[in-house]
Amino acid sequence: MDLVGLDIGTTGVKGLRVNQRGKVVASASSSYPLSAPRPLWAEQDPEDWWRATVEVLRQLGAGEVAGLALSGQMHGLVPLDARLRVVRPAILWCDQRTARECQEITNTIGEERLLQLAANPALAGFTAPKVVWMRNNEPELYRKIRHVLLPKDYVRYRLTGELAIDASDAAGTLLFNVQLRKWSEEILEALDIDQSWLPPVLESPQIAGKITTAVAQATGLPEGMTVAAGGADNPCAAVGIGVVRRGLVSSSIGTSGTLLAHTDQPLIDPQGRVHTFCHSVPGCWYCMGVMLSAGNSLRWYRDTFAGAEREVAVNTGRDVYDLLAQEAEQAPPGCEGLVFLPYLMGERTPHKDSYARGVWFGLTGRHSRPHLVRSVLEGVALGLRDSLEILHGMGLEVREIRVIGGGARSRLWCQIQSDVFNQELAVPQVDEGPAFGAALLAGVAVGQYATVEEACSAAVRIKERVQPNSKRVKLYNQVYDLYRSLYPRLADRFKVAAQFPLADAPPVRHR
Ligand code: XUL
Repeated sequence: MDLVGLDIGTTGVKGLRVNQRGKVVASASSSYPLSAPRPLWAEQDPEDWWRATVEVLRQLGAGEVAGLALSGQMHGLVPLDARLRVVRPAILWCDQRTARECQEITNTIGEERLLQLAANPALAGFTAPKVVWMRNNEPELYRKIRHVLLPKDYVRYRLTGELAIDASDAAGTLLFNVQLRKWSEEILEALDIDQSWLPPVLESPQIAGKITTAVAQATGLPEGMTVAAGGADNPCAAVGIGVVRRGLVSSSIGTSGTLLAHTDQPLIDPQGRVHTFCHSVPGCWYCMGVMLSAGNSLRWYRDTFAGAEREVAVNTGRDVYDLLAQEAEQAPPGCEGLVFLPYLMGERTPHKDSYARGVWFGLTGRHSRPHLVRSVLEGVALGLRDSLEILHGMGLEVREIRVIGGGARSRLWCQIQSDVFNQELAVPQVDEGPAFGAALLAGVAVGQYATVEEACSAAVRIKERVQPNSKRVKLYNQVYDLYRSLYPRLADRFKVAAQFPLADAPPVRHR
């Protein structure tokens, strides 16, 4: 029987149907908008996730399905009232409004103690600062809160009527004891957040509920079908490409960019620059560097500068990103001294700075569009190298980096990553993102596989390896030195830039 994996992403829901041999037999997706009522804010209407989920499930078709699991964007706050109605639009992982609340949390608990308990510092995207932000800024709405869910858990609640979370998503709330894999009473007490608001915690492959009659009627799924807990999108994506053993690392470019290393122990960066979270593999953890605007930087470039390429894409049926990669190939590696800092949404790793801003540095009259787009691809790879350097510095073994997402689909971006990291990259055969990992977790939940590791051995294959080129490695080392030197020189200027008044423009809604 088939398995279904659903990913509740930042730009849309993606669903996969996977057969018993781990082959994707159907896929469907449905997108929704992201609303930015103010710069660097990011919200979504949970009803949009639900509408897209039903549409995707209908498209995947009814019939022989054994089980389903969800993955989803991490850290998002979905506040619900006593009758489980959404209190306000969800505040997402990339939202930067909570710089003050992060300071408040750090002052209350203490930096060191927070790192011991939550394994991470207070960062703007995490869930707890958002709850405190609501208390500080929307007291009337805050008073209505009785339940707090994360995005995929809200969708699972609509599918099954059950409230639950898994350890991998709970780890990203800052309310969770990541080492002990349970809610932290000490943090909850210190922040005066009621533990009864939080759902019970499961491991990712555990059963969390069953499809309700109403959902079965609306989607065609079998009534009473098993729904597994599933996991956060990054660990689910890692499961989907077999990053479930020590020495394996994933480099993923979606809206965000992440470098994730599997660990058997909860290893904590004493400076909190990379996150330490629970893996979707029970009893395992991972360390992860996160760039907030990786694929999003290229998307911004596409939407802002690539009108002509978009038109060609529409007229020829070609993918606009292929056209942009072709253009980028016309510029030389290193872009003749042009460097792009991809901090369009502030940055987490390595700077932990909500005020950081994007920069094109080193522009001259020689630079043209190919340089601009190539510098965006390079800037993202250089940002991921920041994470790689930290993982190396923590003594983590990096035996193999597996690429996934936009950075894996573009041959050029893969090569740039390999040259910038000075490391061979492995390209997995199936690059379907977190939904594929979720489907494998569903397979464990229904007993099709005994463990997550067994599911990966059965379903994951490497199709290609990309080698670094020594000449370009040398050049990119120089570019990286320049890249790395820019942020410290600009950090206080970013704060000044953030103070400028904003035009009285209507809120941006990205499609
Ligand atoms: C990870 C993070 C992002 C989101 C993207 O900490 O915030 O990668 O999970 O959906």
